[in-house]
Amino acid sequence: MGVFLGIDVGTSGTKTLAIDEKGRILAEAAESYPCYYPATQWSEQDPEDWWKATRTTIKAVVSEANLKAADVKAIGLSGQMHGSVFLDKRGQVIRNAILWNDQRTKAECDEIEERAGGRKKLIQMVANPALTGFTAPKILWLRNNEPRAFAKLTHVLLPKDEIRRRLTGEMATEVSDASGMLLLDVAKRKWSKPLLKKLELDESMFAHCYESEEVTGKLRPDVATDLGLSKDCVVVGGAGDCAANAVGTGVVTSGILSNSVGSSGVMFVHSDQMQFDPAGRLHTFCHAVRGKWHMMGVTLSAGASLSWLVEQVCKDAGDALEPDPYKVLLGEAEKAPAGSLGLFFLPYLAGERTPHADPLARGCFIGLTQSHQRGHLVRSVLEGVAYSLRDSLEIIRGLKVPVRQIRVSGGGGKSPLWRQIQADVFGQDVVTINAEQGPAYGVALLAAVGAGAFKNVEEACEATIRVTSRTTCHQTRLPHRIYAKGYPVYQRLYQALKDEFQAIAQL
Ligand code: XUL
Repeated sequence: MGVFLGIDVGTSGTKTLAIDEKGRILAEAAESYPCYYPATQWSEQDPEDWWKATRTTIKAVVSEANLKAADVKAIGLSGQMHGSVFLDKRGQVIRNAILWNDQRTKAECDEIEERAGGRKKLIQMVANPALTGFTAPKILWLRNNEPRAFAKLTHVLLPKDEIRRRLTGEMATEVSDASGMLLLDVAKRKWSKPLLKKLELDESMFAHCYESEEVTGKLRPDVATDLGLSKDCVVVGGAGDCAANAVGTGVVTSGILSNSVGSSGVMFVHSDQMQFDPAGRLHTFCHAVRGKWHMMGVTLSAGASLSWLVEQVCKDAGDALEPDPYKVLLGEAEKAPAGSLGLFFLPYLAGERTPHADPLARGCFIGLTQSHQRGHLVRSVLEGVAYSLRDSLEIIRGLKVPVRQIRVSGGGGKSPLWRQIQADVFGQDVVTINAEQGPAYGVALLAAVGAGAFKNVEEACEATIRVTSRTTCHQTRLPHRIYAKGYPVYQRLYQALKDEFQAIAQL
């Protein structure tokens, strides 16, 4: 029997699943861990928590599917992108990892653009402008702000690649995740020597960069024994969670857009050639498909906006929300009318990436009246996130990238209400697919390709992924008409408030 594991080291937790050679899921397990917010708009995690969750979930999957050590042929790794794991020469983690939604590095982004010779030159070298969430600014932040820690630094790894190091002993990464470090020549799929030189960073600090389905090493014997796996089990490159989710939802050809709502919200399109947004609002990264690229826009707090409302605002409301607060609250939101009686939510709880690239932006409810109840607040969060995703969709449409089909996944795809809101806000139908596990499933498929069970990623997706439902945007019905009028209002609200966000930051 050939079994492949997919592991996704996410922000809210790690998910592991096992699939067979036909892509059928045999078992899955998840474990959550905390995120630390040591200052406003900072966010960090302890890599040790990722490792514990990885080991626990692998063991749970091996036991649930009753796997023998020799069954598991290959493992694929996915993870939250951009996070910085700082290692010293003994391989010890120097400090907590700084995450993708951390906003502390504005000064370092400016420094990078200046050292690169301007924004245009930087984009020529690494295909993207400097954004606070990316990894390179985090390394410069360490150099500028924690020089004693920086003096010990010998390697920087991305979250999933730190898990690879612990599984295999190898320092390796792959092109899709490495693109988000802002140090990769995305066109050539290699580290950018010119930029590394300008930033005075040594290439030896970074891992060898593979294609996503390539084998990067085998399990260390002691780790294999501990996990109930074989030391012959290989670990393939895998992918950053956005590209992994695209593979796991079959977005490996042009014309299909993957829209996934996890903690962040991502609008992702495949591209056969390397394509840019000249204004730098969309990211251009390598895809997990050999020789292909993708563009994407990111809402930093998508599912995270809903979980903020549920956990921080509503959760003390008592037993009425139990056993599933999300079900109760989404039920209340369903009863609220489209447009939430004129209530708007700007989902900028962690600043915003696309389209504003504004670390100082803040979350807001605008338009509250005495008539508003909890259900309206929940609905306006769902609507605000959908408007924000439409911002990315409009940039993609504006670049004339064809979007024949929108595939929704993650939390935004699971809730029928959120799916309907998205279809009505986008003005286009959305579809779901049979595989709901997104990134973990995508890298399990990459593992299967790496082990030879499929010829390539396209064949693996073709064999395993199909559309299961369609949510129609009714162009003539009231919700779509309300959202068509509401979207320009939503857009103007950020413009009206952006100077105030700066003023708030200086209070
Ligand atoms: C992508 C990004 C997020 C994280 C979340 O650029 O920052 O989607 O990868 O896990």
